[in-house]
Amino acid sequence: MKLADNKATLSFSNGSPSIEMPVYSGNIGPDVIDIRKLYGQSGMFTYDPGFLSTASCQSAITYIDGDKGELLYRGYPIEQLANKVDFLDTCYLLLNGELPVGQQSKDFHKLVNNHTMVNEQLQFFLRGFRRDAHPMAVLTGLIGALSAFYHDSTDINNPEHRHISAIRLIAKLPTLVAMAYKYGVGQPFMYPQNNLSYSGNFLRMMFGVPCEEYVVNPVLERAMDRIFILHADHEQNASTSTVRLCGSSGTNPFAAIAAGVACLWGPAHGGANEACLNMLEDIQKMGGITKVGEFMEKVKDKNSGVKLMGFGHRVYKNYDPRAKLMQETCDEVLKELGLENDPLFKLAKALEKIALEDDYFVSRKLYPNVDFYSGIVQRAIGIPVNLFTGVFALARTVGWIAQLNEMISDSEYKIGRPRQLFTGSVRRDVQR
Ligand code: CMC
Repeated sequence: MKLADNKATLSFSNGSPSIEMPVYSGNIGPDVIDIRKLYGQSGMFTYDPGFLSTASCQSAITYIDGDKGELLYRGYPIEQLANKVDFLDTCYLLLNGELPVGQQSKDFHKLVNNHTMVNEQLQFFLRGFRRDAHPMAVLTGLIGALSAFYHDSTDINNPEHRHISAIRLIAKLPTLVAMAYKYGVGQPFMYPQNNLSYSGNFLRMMFGVPCEEYVVNPVLERAMDRIFILHADHEQNASTSTVRLCGSSGTNPFAAIAAGVACLWGPAHGGANEACLNMLEDIQKMGGITKVGEFMEKVKDKNSGVKLMGFGHRVYKNYDPRAKLMQETCDEVLKELGLENDPLFKLAKALEKIALEDDYFVSRKLYPNVDFYSGIVQRAIGIPVNLFTGVFALARTVGWIAQLNEMISDSEYKIGRPRQLFTGSVRRDVQR
C-alpha cells in the first residue's frame, strides 16, 4: 500500500473541526481513503450497506476492471489462462503468486492427486442425509465436517497446517461433490483414480460406475477444466468476504470454507446458475422462444419481482469476460454432443439478443454474467441442475483459500467487526 500524493478532508456543516485522512494507491484501480481513525477522531462511523464504496482489505490476488470487462488472476488475463494453462496450474498461481514452471507444475499436480481420497468414515456421515437433500446442504455439512477428520491441519495460524488443509480441500472437493451426487441418485461412490487429470477424475467419479470402464471425453474434460478456471476466484465477492470474516476469528480453514459454501448457495451469488437454468426451463414450458417478449416485460416490471437470472453484476458494468469464454465452451460442448439445436441454448441466445438491445438493460449496464451459459454447459455434460452451485464451490475453493491465507499473513489483519446505525428501541424497562 503506498500513500497517494493527496489527502482527503472531511468537513462538517455543524462547525466540528474537519478531519484529514490519508489516501492510498494500489497498483491499478481506484485509490482508497483510510477511515480507520475516523471514529476515534469524530465519534462517527461510515454507513455503507452492501459495501458499495468500501475496500475491506488489501489484496494482491485478483483484479477486476468492471468498466473494461477485465479479470486478472495475479496479473494474468483470464482469457490467456483459460486458453493456455490447466486448472491446477491456475490453483498454484492463485496460491503462490506465480505460474508453476517445469517440475513445479508436475510436483503440484502429484501433490494434489495424492490427496483425492477422503476418510472412509465420511461416507457414513454423508449417509445420514436424506437422499433428496440439496447437494449444497450436503456439501456445507461435509466440508465443515472435514475439520473433525483432519485434526492435524486445523490451526489457521500455523503455515504448515494452512498448506496441508489447502491441498486437502482442493484435492477432496471433486470427490465430495461427486459423492453428494452419487448418493442422491443411489449409485455406488466411485473412488478417485489418480492417473487422470483433475477434471477427468471428476467426470469419472460423477458418471463412471464400478461395473464399466469410463473413458474421459477430452472435449468435456477441457470444458470442465475451463469452468473451474473461470470460477476459481473473483476478489472480494460475498462468499470470499464471508470466508475472510469467518477466518478472521481464528477458526479452522475447513470451517471458514464451509461458511463460504453456505454463502455461495444464494441465488444472487453462486446459486444464480441454478436459478438461470430453472428460469430457461420455465420459459420453455410456457412456450419457449415465442414467450420471450412476454417474459422480458415481466422482468422490466418492478412489481413482478422477476429478474433475468444470469444478467447483471455488481462490478462488471461492461461484458463479463467469463461469459464470453463460457459461451465459446458452450458452443464446443453442444457441438461435441450433437446438441447444437438444444432449445434452451437457442432460448438463452434469444434472451441475450433482446436484452443487449433493450434500453432497460442497456441503460442499467446489465450484461450476461458467467452463469448465463455455465448452466447450459453443465446440463449438456449431464450435471444435474441442483449440483451446479456445488461445482462452483469446488472451483472457488482455491480462491477462498488463497484469500484466507493472504488475510492471515497480512500484518494489518484484525477480527472483522462492522459497526451499525442503531434504529431500534432506546433503553426501556420491562413492565411486569
Ligand atoms: N434482471 C432485471 N433487472 C436487474 C437485474 C436482472 N438480472 N440485475 C439488476 N437489475 C436492475 C435492478 O433492479 C436495478 O434497477 P433500478 O436501478 O431501476 O432499481 C439496477 O438493475 C441495478 O441493480 P442492483 O440490484 O442495484 O445491482 P447490484 O449490484 O446490487 O446486484 C446482482 C448485482 C448480480 C445481485 C444483480 O444484477 C442480480 O440479482 N442478477 C441476477 C442474479 C445473477 O445472475 N447473479 C450472478 C452474479 S455472477 C456470479 C457471481 O459472481 O456470483
